[in-house]
Amino acid sequence: MNSGRTGRHAGPLVIAIDGPAASGKGTLARRLALHYGLPHLDTGLLYRAVALTLIDAGTDLDDGGAAARAAGALSAERLSDPRLRERAMGEAASRVSSVPEVRAALLSWQRKFAEGAQGAVLDGRDIGTVVCPGAPVKLFITAAPEERARRRHLELLGRGEETTLAAILADIRARDARDSSRAAAPLKAAEDAVVLDTTELDADAAFAQAVAIAERLKAA
Ligand code: DC
Repeated sequence: MNSGRTGRHAGPLVIAIDGPAASGKGTLARRLALHYGLPHLDTGLLYRAVALTLIDAGTDLDDGGAAARAAGALSAERLSDPRLRERAMGEAASRVSSVPEVRAALLSWQRKFAEGAQGAVLDGRDIGTVVCPGAPVKLFITAAPEERARRRHLELLGRGEETTLAAILADIRARDARDSSRAAAPLKAAEDAVVLDTTELDADAAFAQAVAIAERLKAA
């Protein structure tokens, strides 16, 4: 394993990874974190946990005030709830994530994580643009919607969740539209991010390319 501090980049290494739903950014982020010996935060889990708090309380997901309070009171233990990974939770998270006060409450959490002495890998939608705009390594991971739907379908089947490919593709298109068009910190590549399209790449090839990009950016 390489050190997170090698290369010309001085100080703790922060790697920002963004991209649309089911682009493979989570898998890449985990593997990069392991490779560089850095802690990893899947920031989508924070939004999913806010949504789950509202669902458990029987509160409407469009109640922005309740969502903001849930975000402000979020505890780390919530992030290991297995229900956060369910398909419906992605959609619910996307809805609460458009509330600016929710984003503001979660921003300080994410920044604190990123500013740890060891450095960090964070993945989400606005890491390179808002959470860690100064990160030396920024990747924007994307893939064709049909390919993302195919991968997510296989993953959910593997976890025993019954769904159809068509339903997942519809989910993905709806989430892309909502995440990209919201006013607060929309999904978009930072100007200095390197875009990696994984449509034609398997997980190992995507990882190899991501490491090559990270090494190049670290040394720049
Ligand atoms: O990455 P994910 O599918 O777990 O994210 C779920 C939703 O959370 C996503 O559709 C939008 C929102 N999200 C966000 O707005 N900003 C982030 N940094 C991460 C996730």
